Amino acid sequence: MGGGKPDSRVLDYLSSAGADSKIIQYDVLGSQAHVLMLYKKGIIPRDDARRILDALADVWRKRSSIASATRSKSTGYGNAEDIHEFVELFVIERAGIESGGRIHAARSRNDQVATDIRMKIRDDINEICGRLLDVAESMIMLGYGHCKTIMPLYTHMQQAQVGLFSHWLLAHVDALLRDYDRLCDVFGRVNMSPLGAGPVGGTSLPIDRQYTAKLLGFDGLVENSLDATSTRDFAAEYASAVSIMMSNISRIAEDLVVWSTSEFSFVELEDCIASPSSAMPQKKNPDILEVTRAKSFESAGCLASILGIVGGLASGYGRDLQQLKPILWQVSDIGSSALFAMYSVFGGLYVDKARMRRVAQSSDLISLDVAEKLVIASNVPFRTAHAVAASLARHAHDVKKPVRKLAMSEIKKAIKGMDATGVDAQDLCDILSTLGAVSSLRNRLSRGSSGYAEQTRMLADRKKRIADLRGDNDIRVKRILGAFDSLQKQARHV
Ligand code: ARG
Repeated sequence: MGGGKPDSRVLDYLSSAGADSKIIQYDVLGSQAHVLMLYKKGIIPRDDARRILDALADVWRKRSSIASATRSKSTGYGNAEDIHEFVELFVIERAGIESGGRIHAARSRNDQVATDIRMKIRDDINEICGRLLDVAESMIMLGYGHCKTIMPLYTHMQQAQVGLFSHWLLAHVDALLRDYDRLCDVFGRVNMSPLGAGPVGGTSLPIDRQYTAKLLGFDGLVENSLDATSTRDFAAEYASAVSIMMSNISRIAEDLVVWSTSEFSFVELEDCIASPSSAMPQKKNPDILEVTRAKSFESAGCLASILGIVGGLASGYGRDLQQLKPILWQVSDIGSSALFAMYSVFGGLYVDKARMRRVAQSSDLISLDVAEKLVIASNVPFRTAHAVAASLARHAHDVKKPVRKLAMSEIKKAIKGMDATGVDAQDLCDILSTLGAVSSLRNRLSRGSSGYAEQTRMLADRKKRIADLRGDNDIRVKRILGAFDSLQKQARHV
């Protein structure tokens, strides 16, 4: 076997430099905390700590240019294989081997990389959560303008009941708020420190893991050093939460794609977010929605890759884990850009109220209301009332009239042979004369329904909830920034 350096193509193949350009800042912060801890525990002397911290401050200042240089894989890092080696070599070069050579005591790239990834993902979660709330809030504001906008509600894509556009918006806001909850829940498990776990089994040096965790704004430790260095379940959870969110967003997109067809014409995208066709001048394509639909599959693909990579690993760090980084960054990118796209969509969505109302009123969407009225007015079992309403609907269809326009003679014909039901034609005629889309929605009082009263209540409730969640998100962000502030103060003190 020959020795020597591997081919540069092999080095490129092995290098994580491209993905590492996104975690330089976290690597520096983690290194600062580690050095402060080594100094506090008497593992390294003050002068050495100060020299290392100065060198790290230099990396911090140059982080953007290092990031752009290192994106080009093997060339950007000189002799270093990844960002962790790069930072250490840089520190040794600046501070000298006597001081700089002490930075890597009691740590390994295995706990370092796990720390960096967790720090990035927690920032990404906070960013995505903020954008999620922006979208939800814009939908609520739109909802206030549409709590009287009558439209058909669909099941199986068939018209089912009369409803309101605000109800549709609120349904999707609730899904987004569950996405928010899911991400916060994941945040709790992401924000735990693996730092100080060493390569796999810990260290004999007297370190203080709680101290570094606190300096970096973590809520606690991933205690077991074997677990801390090799688990990426938090990454799978994150990708899963984002993928579920993307599937929710994709369903919004799908409705809007269908509703913006000429056949539906319920909604129209503002010119600045719709795309023209290169060939057909009359066309206005909802590309932004279609791309969003596709991106939801991309994030699901990322999740599948993550699960595949981690599920095949023996315990302890394996280099396979390196390949998770670009996938995770892609997940973040998809999640946050899709939310931005949806925010633009709701800011530029024209809703054709008149058209929605016309379609809802021209269809027989009150049959269920007829049956429910019979349950109360004529005191008949629902199944019987359903049969009567179905007969009416069939007859109305045959004579090509809306149900509520049926004349007395037609009602009698429709329920011929149904005497045993005890339903009286005159009662039915009275019921039909009071029924319409508006009265249907006025009577729809059940909690969470598309009735008028529920819209006002739900809009106010969700608006408040969004404001509260925004406060929580700000607190999470501030807590991390606060920890970094005190980390910098302590570093200056050395
Ligand atoms: N570049 C590696 C990664 O991204 C860092 C850890 C390397 N550890 C090792 N034992 N080779 O995962």
